[in-house]
Amino acid sequence: MVAARITVNGNEATIAPSAPHTTVLDFLRERGLTGTKEGCAEGECGACSVLVARPGVSKPTDWVAVNACLVPVAALDGQEVVTSEGLATAGAPGTPAALHPVQEEMAVRGGSQCGYCTPGFICSMASEYYRPDRCAHTHSDTNAGSGSGSGGETDPEHGPNGFDLHALSGNLCRCTGYRPIRDAAFAVGSPAEDDVLAQRREQSPPEPVATAYAHGDSVFLRPSTLPEALRLLRERPEAVVVAGSTDWGVEVNIRSRRAKCVVAVDRLPELRDLRVESDHVEIGAAQTLTEIERRLDGSVPLLAELFPQFASRLIRNSATLGGNLGTGSPIGDSPPVLLALEASLVLAGADGEREVPLADYFTGYRQSVRRPDELIRAVRIPLPLSRVTAFHKIAKRRFDDISSVAVAFALDIEGGIVRKARIGLGGVAATPIRALATEAALEGKPWVAETVEAASRVLRAQGTPMDDHRASAGYRSAMLGQSLLKLYARTTEAVSS
Ligand code: FES
Ligand code: FES
Repeated sequence: MVAARITVNGNEATIAPSAPHTTVLDFLRERGLTGTKEGCAEGECGACSVLVARPGVSKPTDWVAVNACLVPVAALDGQEVVTSEGLATAGAPGTPAALHPVQEEMAVRGGSQCGYCTPGFICSMASEYYRPDRCAHTHSDTNAGSGSGSGGETDPEHGPNGFDLHALSGNLCRCTGYRPIRDAAFAVGSPAEDDVLAQRREQSPPEPVATAYAHGDSVFLRPSTLPEALRLLRERPEAVVVAGSTDWGVEVNIRSRRAKCVVAVDRLPELRDLRVESDHVEIGAAQTLTEIERRLDGSVPLLAELFPQFASRLIRNSATLGGNLGTGSPIGDSPPVLLALEASLVLAGADGEREVPLADYFTGYRQSVRRPDELIRAVRIPLPLSRVTAFHKIAKRRFDDISSVAVAFALDIEGGIVRKARIGLGGVAATPIRALATEAALEGKPWVAETVEAASRVLRAQGTPMDDHRASAGYRSAMLGQSLLKLYARTTEAVSS
């Protein structure tokens, strides 16, 4: 067996003797790379952000920022990582290292006080700095931008250098205040021609490595093919399946869960396709949410509305649709949207594949029809898409929060009549559900206030919402009803009658 190895800041290191559940964060810190910090250990603060070389969307390699506290180091066998220390280029002997342009901007603009969050911000910022399709807006672009008002204003979420502030949505700072950090982000230029990390984007990323990393009585396995993965799952039905590890990493850190066997499926080629066919879109279950967002580029508007509300950029850089559906959570963000889109799942098993409508997939709290020896291979979304869509996530914070309740709508309205209505709900039952009674209350009716108000009363009564620390049952029901009224208010002018 070849020893598991990882390249950190250009230097190879063996992963042994770390335990298979050891995170990248702990691995780095044990080796003296203490710039990478632990704040929350559950993917919410970004203090642990590092860069990983991943398959690129528009270039062979993208430098992708991920939460090092969630990723098992064994999952990066054969991969390349850059930390905040590695971003600074070494100076001549006896001289201080030169700051990276992102570090320089943070320093001169006062973007750091105690500094605890700073290395994480730097890595998230560097990932956006190296995003190949980031480009500076011209003056006329910014004036025409997203409804920001009269001349001279810029889109508040994008800098004049094209920097997308959502790149920092997973990073928290407790002392500096965000304005100097934003100023630094909006001031960075473009990488120089001889920038080593910019040049690295032109070569392929490291190939996934078949990993069998054992330590004590635990093993981390990365099969190379889908048949191999399915055989493993049949032999080890107790195995924990991970993709981006954004859920499992929290279980390990916060609930101290350990697994005898972890099987990583995030680089299986059979799960990494994304195809738009004449009658459906097929999204590989192991595509990350960022990859889907960039590859679809708004062509499925309901998904485009979902993504910015799904956790943070750091999480979306690792999380997958397969993982979000595989956990079976009743408050996952993607199921309401995929239910409204009438998506189905392609489940692969040793005996072949079967396609299951998502509406039939969930069977109970965190339960589904997927057998332990099956994997979600892909999500299929039928075409054509409904033209009137919306996703309303009601949560305490606008970004990077868990929903209290979530509602997704997909309506076909022709000649002023609702021809088809599909509504997905999250957070109001033990599983994500379709609002079938509300759909029936809308279909065949004119899209007018009376219809919508009557259907809104039906929607308020859908599901069996509970009181908990996020919201009361009454609030959840009220939000359901309001969400349909909000959709009506937003869409009536756009709908042809
Ligand atoms: Fe907070 Fe990793 S330590 S996101
Ligand atoms: Fe102190 Fe950000 S500078 S937490």
